Amino acid sequence: MKKIFVKTYGCQMNEYDSGRMAELMETEGYVQTDNKDDADLVVLNTCHIREKATEKVYSELGRIRHQDEASGKKRLIAVAGCVGQAEGKEIFKRAKNVDMVFGPQSYHKLPEYTKAAQKGEKVYEADFYEEEKFDAMPVKPQINKVTAFLSVQEGCDKFCTFCVVPYTRGAEFSRKVADIIDEAKILVGGGVKEITLLGQNVNAYHGLNAQGKVTSLAELCAILANIQGLERIRYTTSHPRDMSDDLFAAHRDIPKLMPYLHLPIQSGSDTILKKMNRKHTAAEYLDIIAKMRAARPDLALSGDFIVGFPGETDQDFQDTITLIKQVNYASSFSFKYSPRPGTPAADHDNQVPENIKAERLAILQELLFTQQKAFNESLIGQKLPVLIEKQGRYEGQLVGRSPYLQAVYFDAEPTMKIGNSVTIDIKGFSLNSLNGDVVKAKQMSVA
Ligand code: SAH
Ligand code: SF4
Ligand code: F3S
Repeated sequence: MKKIFVKTYGCQMNEYDSGRMAELMETEGYVQTDNKDDADLVVLNTCHIREKATEKVYSELGRIRHQDEASGKKRLIAVAGCVGQAEGKEIFKRAKNVDMVFGPQSYHKLPEYTKAAQKGEKVYEADFYEEEKFDAMPVKPQINKVTAFLSVQEGCDKFCTFCVVPYTRGAEFSRKVADIIDEAKILVGGGVKEITLLGQNVNAYHGLNAQGKVTSLAELCAILANIQGLERIRYTTSHPRDMSDDLFAAHRDIPKLMPYLHLPIQSGSDTILKKMNRKHTAAEYLDIIAKMRAARPDLALSGDFIVGFPGETDQDFQDTITLIKQVNYASSFSFKYSPRPGTPAADHDNQVPENIKAERLAILQELLFTQQKAFNESLIGQKLPVLIEKQGRYEGQLVGRSPYLQAVYFDAEPTMKIGNSVTIDIKGFSLNSLNGDVVKAKQMSVA
C-alpha cells in the first residue's frame, strides 16, 4: 500500500484543496499518513502570500532532501499550490529533489502527474482548469468531522497592488449551485454540522442555479439553510466591494448564518487604500459595518491589516488606528507588508524600513488584542450555544465553538458527544478562548 503525506501552508482554501488531493489519491490506492518519513509521496500544498511563507517551503524541501540522502530512499515530491504557480520551473533549480510542480487549478491531475514522475519525468503544469478540477474530484463524506470547508468560489479579479492571489489562483470563478448543494449534503450525511463556504472573494459568488440564473452568496446561504441536519453556516473571505444589501438581510433572516464577518480593510488611510487599489474608502467600509450591525447587532467583526505599505506615513498609520477604534474588532490578522515579486507595489520606490514596520505592527496588535480580549470578556454571563468539536485539554473536558468562533472549553456531562450542541454559561475568557459551565435543561427554562 503506498502512502501519501500532504502538508498544508496558507489559507483555508489550501486546507480544502489538500483534503481533496488526499481523497483523490485514495481512489488510486494510496492511504494517508501523518508521518512524512513513512510516505512514498509527499505533497507540499504551498502559500506565496508573504516572503516568509514561501521560504518555509524551501526549508522543508531542504530537510526532505537531507533525510532522503541519509536514508537512501527517494520519496516522490510535489510542490502544489500558490508557490508552484508563482515560481514554476524555478523550483526545480532551487530544489533538485522536486518531481512535480503545479498550481492550485490543476491538482485534479495528481494521479497522472504521479505516474509520470514515477517514470522519472519532471512534471510541470501551470494552466487553470477551475471547472474541470471540481468536476473531476470525488467527494467523500467526512466521517467524524463536525465542521467542514466547502470551496464555492475561487480566484480574484481585484488586483490589490500588494497581492499575489490574482496571479496564483487566476480569475474569479463560481461553482454551480447544484454542485455545492450535492457536496454539502454529502458532508452533512457524514456528520458535518457546520459548513464554512470558502472563496478568495466569497461574497463575489455568482454561480448559476439549475435554471441558469445567477445566484448570490446570500441566496446560496438561504438554499443551504434548508438542508436538514446542517446547523451552522459561515463564509470567508469577503471583500468590502462585494458586500450587498441581500447579504445584510441574510444575516438578519437566516438563523443558521453565524453572526461573524471577516472583512479585511488592510488600512484606514484613503491615500494608502488608493495606492493599494482596494477600490473602497474607509468611510465606505464603516458604512458597511454599520449596515451589518443594524441587521445583526451581536455581529463579531474580524479584519486583516497590513502595516508599512510603501509610502505609509505616520499619519496614514494613525488613520488605521483611528479606524480600528471606530470599528472595535472581535478578532484580526495583521501583517508587515512583504514585497512580492511581480506585484506593482514591490516596485514602488518609497518602501518603509523594516524597523518602522515592526514598531507599527506592535502598536497595532496591542490595540487589536485589547479589543479582542474586551469582546471575549463582554460575553461573560451570557448563555451561548456551543457546537462540540473535540476533546479538551484533559479527560472529561470538551471544546466547541461559540457563534462568534471562539473556542469554548467546559466540563462535559457523560451523555455529551462531539457533534452535539449545548448551552454554556460563559464564566471566563482568554485572548483566544472562553470557558464556562453546561446549562442544565431546568436552568435553561428558567433563564
Ligand atoms: N481575499 C482576501 C485576502 C487574501 S490574502 C481579501 O481581499 O482581503 C490574506 C491577507 O494576507 C490579506 O488580507 C492581507 O492582509 C495579507 N497580505 C496579502 N498580501 C500581502 C503582502 N504582500 N504583505 C503582507 N500581507 C499581505
Ligand atoms: Fe488579494 Fe486583493 Fe484579491 Fe484579496 S481582493 S485576494 S487582497 S488581490
Ligand atoms: Fe496563500 Fe495562495 Fe491562499 S498565496 S493565502 S495559499 S490563495
